[in-house]
Amino acid sequence: MNILHIDSSPLVGRSVSRELSARIVSRIVEQFPNATVTRRDIALHPPAHAGAEAVDVVRYKKDQELSELQVRETALADTLIAELHAADVLVIGSPMYNYTVTTQLKAWIDRVCQAGRTFRYTPEGSVGLLNPGTRAIIAISRGGNYTNGKQNHRDFQIPYLKEILGFVGITDVTFVVAEGVNLSPEARAQVIKRATAEIDDIVRALALATSHLRTLQNDRRRNHMDVPQTNYKSPFRFSRVSHSVFTSRDLKKSEEFYTEVLGLVVSDSDKDTLYLRGLEERAHHSLVIKRTTDAPAYERAGLRVFDEEALDKCKHTFEQHQLPCQWVERPFQGRTLHALDVCGTPLEICASMDRQPRLDMDVYKHKGAQARRFDHYQITIPDVEKITRFYTSVGCRIADYITAGGHPIGVFLQMKDTPYDLVFLERDGPAFHHFGYIIPDIQAMLRACDTMGELGWGNNVEYGPGKHGVGHSYYVYILDPDNHRCELLLPPIVYMDREDEPHVWDVLTTERGTEAWGLPPRESWFSHRSRFNGVKITTPPGGGTPMTLEKYLQIAK
Ligand SMILES: Cc1cc2nc3c(=O)[nH]c(=O)nc-3n(C[C@H](O)[C@H](O)[C@H](O)COP(=O)(O)O)c2cc1C
Ligand SMILES: [Fe+2]
Repeated sequence: MNILHIDSSPLVGRSVSRELSARIVSRIVEQFPNATVTRRDIALHPPAHAGAEAVDVVRYKKDQELSELQVRETALADTLIAELHAADVLVIGSPMYNYTVTTQLKAWIDRVCQAGRTFRYTPEGSVGLLNPGTRAIIAISRGGNYTNGKQNHRDFQIPYLKEILGFVGITDVTFVVAEGVNLSPEARAQVIKRATAEIDDIVRALALATSHLRTLQNDRRRNHMDVPQTNYKSPFRFSRVSHSVFTSRDLKKSEEFYTEVLGLVVSDSDKDTLYLRGLEERAHHSLVIKRTTDAPAYERAGLRVFDEEALDKCKHTFEQHQLPCQWVERPFQGRTLHALDVCGTPLEICASMDRQPRLDMDVYKHKGAQARRFDHYQITIPDVEKITRFYTSVGCRIADYITAGGHPIGVFLQMKDTPYDLVFLERDGPAFHHFGYIIPDIQAMLRACDTMGELGWGNNVEYGPGKHGVGHSYYVYILDPDNHRCELLLPPIVYMDREDEPHVWDVLTTERGTEAWGLPPRESWFSHRSRFNGVKITTPPGGGTPMTLEKYLQIAK
């Protein structure tokens, strides 16, 4: 960021406008440590008045015929105009002299307003030539009061500055007004104090607006360059993510955990398998937990398509990609396809399941988090761009695309109307990070945590409660008795319209990306994932080290 700092009060050492303009500049530099400041003290070194000799130079004389004054003033004009064009923020200290700006500031204005350089005439009128992103913050000082009183009509300072800056194309102009400074020493101290506080607010707002602007520019850059595009003409589309299949060493404990803590209901069970669903789900199951004597692991991530025809097209598409896929029989499900995606994630895809009654109205049966419905899952894989290209090619939309210095490291893919169904983050994988259930409210979240505490799983409340930036919902992450991770979240924002473009952001320039507030996650939240049975893990090259709670606390000591 370039700051052009101009002062126009001759009273060096006791000038109000100088004190305030210096404050503006130092505050901006605090917020933007890389900012450069160009200083132009036009009270101490004023441009010559626009006399005949100086005015002539602008249009009528050629280089070789210039007088000494004209050579000097032309060079100065070139410098002043270049400084103005280079400025992102123009800061001016402007005292009122005889109802308007000082003669020195006027001399600067007369020098920089040049046709063809800072404005140009068109048949429709004049057009300013400065970068439309240029901002001006102007510290006004004056002895009397003009903004609220009988003297308003005498203010030829603020209206004039607004007009002349607009003339050269600077329309984003903020005034900090210290007026009535000569009424009494107390009044002077008070208006300076008030103006100082105002400056702090203005610069904070500037910092905020600039960071939003950066995200926008990033969005635009990424959208136009290499964010994969959704293929809306895909022969089939996934309708949602629907269920998870994993193993447990103790089905009894799993049942206790998922019914008491999450409040899921058992749709069916036998000695080796447990089928569970959320309170409002009509589909037979959203969790399938299988008994194992080995280390607990994941088997498959479940997806749904709308109908049997889409399922056939899905198989055909996977075959075209030369991805392994085969029909299998699964209890309580219609025809089911087992397939691997481009990163080797084991998928289980079907178009239908047996129906069960909804229990969301049977309030007397509700327990723990009163989990309503399966929402999404997150998987780590080694290549985000590759996986994004695959899923967008079969009609998935991108809600969020996360990069680190331009390199894609995460994607939130959307199928139903919530912001995301399927989340992939760059890390060794494929490995299962978590699945999420929607719960009704914060009370339910706390009740789930309380229940975990009382049943001896207090340490398994791993991360949160907190609030996501992406999706805008509250969350808590918990680990089940086999260390599979589950997220309980409040209903996220709705994401439906096609013109809702992918939100692209870079972790290196965004202070808080996925979390709106709170402490960073424990180290385990990053390192621990459930492995997929029989799947080869690949590690991506490079990668940053995340900020963990453990690191954060050491720094804070
Ligand atoms: C020559 C001169 C003319 C002034 N004219 C006005 C004026 O028209 N209205 C006003 O309110 N104050 C006027 N003042 C007071 C100044 O605006 C006031 O002292 C202000 O603080 C000057 O800014 P500075 O402290 O940054 O130098 C004038 C001061 C001087 C020296
Ligand atoms: Fe999640």
